[in-house]
Amino acid sequence: MHNPTEIQGIRLESLAHQFGTALYIYDGEKIFNQVKSLQEAFSAAPVKVKYATKALSNLSILKLIKKAGAGMDAVSIEEVKLGLIAGFSPEEIMYTPSGVSFEEIQEAVKIGVMINLDSIPLMEQFGETYGNSIPTCIRINPHIMAGGNLKISTGHSESKFGISIEFLPRILETVAKHQLQIVGLHIHTGSDILDAEVFLKGGNVLFEAAKNFPNLKFLDFGGGFKVAYKPKDIATDIPEVGKKVGEAFQNFCKEYGRQLELWLEPGKYLVSEAGYLVVKTNVVKESTSITFAGVDSGLNHLIRPMMYDAYHEVYNLSNPEGPKKKYNVVGYICETDTIAPHRELNEIRQGDFLVIKNAGAYGFSMASNYNSRLRPAEILIWKGQTHLIRAREEFEDLIKNQIVAEI
Ligand code: LLP
Repeated sequence: MHNPTEIQGIRLESLAHQFGTALYIYDGEKIFNQVKSLQEAFSAAPVKVKYATKALSNLSILKLIKKAGAGMDAVSIEEVKLGLIAGFSPEEIMYTPSGVSFEEIQEAVKIGVMINLDSIPLMEQFGETYGNSIPTCIRINPHIMAGGNLKISTGHSESKFGISIEFLPRILETVAKHQLQIVGLHIHTGSDILDAEVFLKGGNVLFEAAKNFPNLKFLDFGGGFKVAYKPKDIATDIPEVGKKVGEAFQNFCKEYGRQLELWLEPGKYLVSEAGYLVVKTNVVKESTSITFAGVDSGLNHLIRPMMYDAYHEVYNLSNPEGPKKKYNVVGYICETDTIAPHRELNEIRQGDFLVIKNAGAYGFSMASNYNSRLRPAEILIWKGQTHLIRAREEFEDLIKNQIVAEI
């Protein structure tokens, strides 16, 4: 796998010196091209890409995604607002909340985004409040078990997401009772899904359900395309999925009697591989059986290895020709925060910069201030230029909302 020392002619090491570490760096060209490749792969159908903002919600990234011709998928009112600031119009935003307050739904209705209803009680309340005045979408739980691991599988029968497909008669009753204006049906089966078959299976659930809704404008297949994390890892074959799902979709539209739009909500596929987390080695420490490389980052900046046992490739930017040795790359947090266990890496010395790959998706967006640590700066490289798109947090940021009690 390619271990870049520079992106668009800009040296990662220079960026680490200039902006300090830990540092998130995003290759804007890669993100742009991923949007384009997805649009291209699904071009048999009128496809709309709605970027899953939760993966990486920096305003400049959102702006870039819009520039590439995608809309967005938001899961909170805050993400909706970020989208508006980044320049998306409300019509380009799909809002798919899970179990939020009705006040938040009302706020989203006022803004004018597409609302995705994910429970029967919410359909009821929506119908009582708005009748048939607001075009809306229903999130179906297709009862399909898929995804990289259980924590990121969202379409099975015990997942909290969506309304069980088994409840279709109840869904239809509720729609009829309130004359709800249903213009879209949605599924999202999970994350890290490899097989085209899973997307086709999901499609079939959507197609069957869709026959009951005469006024549809779109079917939303969700996101979940798998990217390569490990060397020799296989990723979803996007051209194959695009072709198969696109054709099945077009056939369905003929049967349905009208051309619908095909919506997708990728997060990882658009931003994962474009992101690099550059860290510095604070300490190289021997134990009896293992050598630890302790870096100036940890689960506060990238929680995926500890939360999902996710594999992130790491390479030594400062010593690319060094002899290979085995390391546990660990963070500086007071918890076991192993970033990369038992890795063969070019010899690591104190002060070496290491790069953690696939850090674009669910990296910064899941970062925290645990251990009262500050969150990193973010850099976007676009057209050979470096853009600081988020300043490194400062100590003042940690205490700005705290009120010291008069006790
Ligand atoms: N649409 C909906 C409704 C979703 O819930 C998600 C992700 C996506 C789209 C985008 O999925 P993607 O294409 O990124 O796989 N933090 C986890 C992933 C959680 C995904 C949550 N929902 C991780 O780091 O693996």
